[in-house]
Amino acid sequence: MTKTLTQTLHHAQQDYTSRTPKSKAAIDRASDVLPGGNTRSVLHFPPYPLVFKSASGGTLTDIDGHSYKDFLNDFSAGLYGHSQAQIQAAIVGAMDKGLSFGGINQNEEALARVLVERFPALEKVRFTNSGTEANIMALTTARVVTGRDKILVMRDAYYGNCIYLSPAAARTNAPYDFVFGRFNDLAKTEQAVKYCEGGLAAILVETMMGAGGCIPADKPFLQGLRDLADRTGAVLIFDEVVTSRFGAAGAQGEYGITPDMMSCGKYLGGGGTFGAFGGRADLMAIYDANRADAVMHGGTFNNNVITMAAGLTGLRDIYTPEVAAEFLVTGNRFREELNAIAREKAVAVQAVGVGSVMTFHFHNQPVRFPEQMALSHPEAKALFHLAMLERGIYLASRAFVSLSIAQTEEDFSAFKVAFADVLDIHGTLFNQAAEAMAVSEMAEV
Ligand SMILES: Cc1ncc(COP(=O)(O)O)c(C=O)c1O
Repeated sequence: MTKTLTQTLHHAQQDYTSRTPKSKAAIDRASDVLPGGNTRSVLHFPPYPLVFKSASGGTLTDIDGHSYKDFLNDFSAGLYGHSQAQIQAAIVGAMDKGLSFGGINQNEEALARVLVERFPALEKVRFTNSGTEANIMALTTARVVTGRDKILVMRDAYYGNCIYLSPAAARTNAPYDFVFGRFNDLAKTEQAVKYCEGGLAAILVETMMGAGGCIPADKPFLQGLRDLADRTGAVLIFDEVVTSRFGAAGAQGEYGITPDMMSCGKYLGGGGTFGAFGGRADLMAIYDANRADAVMHGGTFNNNVITMAAGLTGLRDIYTPEVAAEFLVTGNRFREELNAIAREKAVAVQAVGVGSVMTFHFHNQPVRFPEQMALSHPEAKALFHLAMLERGIYLASRAFVSLSIAQTEEDFSAFKVAFADVLDIHGTLFNQAAEAMAVSEMAEV
């Protein structure tokens, strides 16, 4: 008798458990002191996540001794691959000169300068410790400068751990006065702000919804938000925490649309803890401490010497505009190859994304809106994830992939072989799951 999706997933979880007893024991032990045994919720998946002991280049090794080709690369923070030699040298060099001066160090200006030269939106920039904080500070800037409070955000977007616009996360958010737009739907979004009393302080948008399914923005949608900001005096902020890697000048460069401000982070710290926000000089001027009315922006580790050195080396010497432009092409090609495999095997799965960042959706409908994430059957996604892990491919449990520049054609081939094998074995179940989700969607309509 053929097994159902639920039964097949159950077996995959049992196999995973028998392969990874040391990870299980480590997570069980950690649960004594860390809720759920970890300190970063996104890393959790049933039955328990892997625990790693080391990584090098494009490979991760777990504590049970299994090697995985790393196709997650820490949700895009690991752009350079593990233990990149120049970055390691920069970190060691920085440490040799001492940690935490409690004063200004020489790499801050240099890193700021490369960022300002790279991204059209940035005339002035300030550093933070995370992308979350970068968005908080960008919103602060907009609220202070405009004297308004309302912030237009996109439903289902993730802009950080306290700005997560899924309905389930409402209570974890900082108490902003949000107005909800619909990504890629200008008419609905403009309708949402039509009766905004007192006007909008900011429009915060990703150019590709990352956690929302790697859905690229339509250019007219972004242009519409640019026009809306110009009409209303709101500050247009692009969250480029993930997308700043796309091309020689970030996603804003690819679209040819310049926001008033941008937030960024992740790989730009070279592997160190990092975030940055910046934009038009007149907006950022509020942080000039020479001014009597300067706005305070603190942060003990804003200029930490390790991140400043690693980030500078990464962006100036390794991820040059030429490398970034080429990497966009490499990622697009890889995604198209995966989709060709799925089409050839007639399996309802598709990789959606831009360049080196993508999410697998388990249906064949064109993906433009974040609510379409709900069309992917959760068990199909979970089975896909465990089946890829079994084949030595590491990716996020939400079927999210981001590439690093350390990855080789051999790594890409290994992914394609594993992907094809998983579709051969589980394709029928994936197709049935996609059909079931389509039927239940129609029933809801
Ligand atoms: C689009 C986007 N914005 C902001 C953040 C928050 O960045 P961080 O995790 O560094 O706080 C993330 C993190 O995944 C993100 O994907």
